[in-house]
Amino acid sequence: MNAQGNTAKQNNVNQGGVSAADEASRPKGDEGAVGAAGIRVIACLRDWNDVQQLTVSFPPDNPHSIEMLTWCQDGSRLFQDAITLEADAVILDPTVPGFSLDDIPRLYNYEERPIVVVAALPPAGDWHESMYGAGAKGHVQLPLSEEAVRRLPGIVHRAVQTALQERASPGYIPQVAPEVARAIATRGWQRASVAVWAAKGGVGKTAVAENIAVLLGVVANRKTVLVDLNMAGGNVHIHLGVLPKKNVFSLASVYEFRKELRAREVQNHLSPYAGNLWVLPGVPRQYMAGESCFVANEGEQGKLFIVALMDCLREMFDFVILDLGQDLNHKMHLTALRGADLVLVVVNPETAGLLDTHEVLDSLFEHVQLDRSRFRLVINRFHPEAGISRKEIVQVLGLPEIGVIPEAGMAVTASLNAKRPLVLGKKCDVTDGLAQVTASIFPPLTDVWRAKGRLGAPRKGLVGRMMEALST
Ligand SMILES: Nc1ncnc2c1ncn2[C@@H]1O[C@H](COP(=O)(O)OP(=O)(O)O)[C@@H](O)[C@H]1O
Ligand SMILES: [Mg+2]
Repeated sequence: MNAQGNTAKQNNVNQGGVSAADEASRPKGDEGAVGAAGIRVIACLRDWNDVQQLTVSFPPDNPHSIEMLTWCQDGSRLFQDAITLEADAVILDPTVPGFSLDDIPRLYNYEERPIVVVAALPPAGDWHESMYGAGAKGHVQLPLSEEAVRRLPGIVHRAVQTALQERASPGYIPQVAPEVARAIATRGWQRASVAVWAAKGGVGKTAVAENIAVLLGVVANRKTVLVDLNMAGGNVHIHLGVLPKKNVFSLASVYEFRKELRAREVQNHLSPYAGNLWVLPGVPRQYMAGESCFVANEGEQGKLFIVALMDCLREMFDFVILDLGQDLNHKMHLTALRGADLVLVVVNPETAGLLDTHEVLDSLFEHVQLDRSRFRLVINRFHPEAGISRKEIVQVLGLPEIGVIPEAGMAVTASLNAKRPLVLGKKCDVTDGLAQVTASIFPPLTDVWRAKGRLGAPRKGLVGRMMEALST
C-alpha cells in the first residue's frame, strides 16, 4: 500500500497535527466508507519511521479494523486531539514533548468512552512500570519492528475491550469531571445517616436503600456504608453479591464481648462493594436475630449495639444508609430510626398501605416522640393509573415528599437477580427517580447525574456496539 496516499486522512497523518479543515473532511460516524466500524487510533510518536510503518500496515479499509486517524507529535495537544477526532486508542511514546502521564487516566476516564493508551516504549529509559501504573493497557517496543506491528491489532483490540469491560462493570469509578468536582465543592452538603423504613414489607425499602447507597458511594464516589439492619432477615448481600461471612451478627457478638466498638473492628466486618461503597451484611439466618448479642436484657443489648455502631460509622463515613425491617416492636429498628439524621418512609400508591403507614407514623410521633421533621416521603412504584395522586399521598401522610420512583415492572427485580443495581445500568425514569431522592440527601448528585446522562448518548460503530453490549 502507498503510504503517501492522497485521502484527507492520510495527508493528515503525513503532516501531523489536526486542522479544522482535516476535521471537516473527516468521514463522520457510520457514513464514512473508511473503517467506520473500526477502532480509531492516534499515533502519538516521535519518530516518523514508526508512523510510516503504521500508515503502511493499516491503510483504509484494512482487515484489522484499525483506523489510523492522525499523527500527533505534541503531547500537550494529545487529549484535545483524541476527543476531537473521537479516538478510541492512542499508541503513545511517553517521550513525546509536552506529554504528561496524567493524560493517560484523563483519556481513560473520558466521560463519553474510555480512550485507551497502548504504550510505545522507547529503547532508552524505564517507562514500562510508570506507563502501566498510569493506566496503559498494553505496550509495544520502539522502534516498531514488523513483528510488533503484526501484533499491534491484537494488543489494541484487547486494550479497548478491557477498558470497555472495566467501564461497564460496577467496579468502575467514574471520574467526576472538573466542573462537577467544583460544583461538589461549592454546593453545600452534609454528612448524614439515613434510615430507609416502611410500615410494610415488600414496598421497596431494600431496593431504595441499595440504589441510594450505590449512587452516593459509587456514582458520586462519597465514602458510604450500607447497613442491612432488617432483623427479620437480610438480603442486601444477595442483591449486591457480597459474602455474608462477616455481618451484623458477628459484629454484635464482638460488641457483646468487648462492650465497645472500635473503628478498625467495624471496618474488618465490612465488605467492599465498588468505588467508595462498603456493605455490612445483615443477619444471614433469621434465628440469629434471637441471639443474646441482640436480645439480652430485654433487647437493651441490641439497642446499645445500634447506638455504638451508628456512632462509629458516622465517624468513618460521609453517608450511612440503613435498610431497616418494618417491625418497630423490634428495639433495634426503633433505635436506628431514633438515631438517624433522616428517615425515608417508603410507600406505594395503595390505600390500605398508606392508612397503615399513617397510623404507625402517628404513634411514632405521639407516643414514642420521634421528631417529625426528620421524616421524608418516598413514593415507590408510582403509576398514574393507580387511582391515587401524589398530592393525596402527601396529604394523607403529612410528610414532605422527596422523590417519586415509578413502577418499573420486572426491571427492579431483574436488576436484583442480576446483582447489578439499577442505577449502574441505563438511565431511565426509575433511575432518575432514585437520583432525585439521593440529590435531596446530597445535592451535588444532580450535577454528577447530569454528567452521567451525557455519557449515555448512543454511539455507532464497533466500539459503540461493544459498549452497549457490555452495559446491558
Ligand atoms: N419501583 C419498582 N418497580 C417495580 N418493582 C419494584 C420497585 N421497587 C421495588 N420493586 C420490587 O418489589 C419487591 C420488594 O422490594 P424490596 O426492596 O425487597 O422491598 P422491602 O425491602 O420493602 O421488603 C422486589 O421484588 C422488588 O424488585
Ligand atoms: Mg427489605
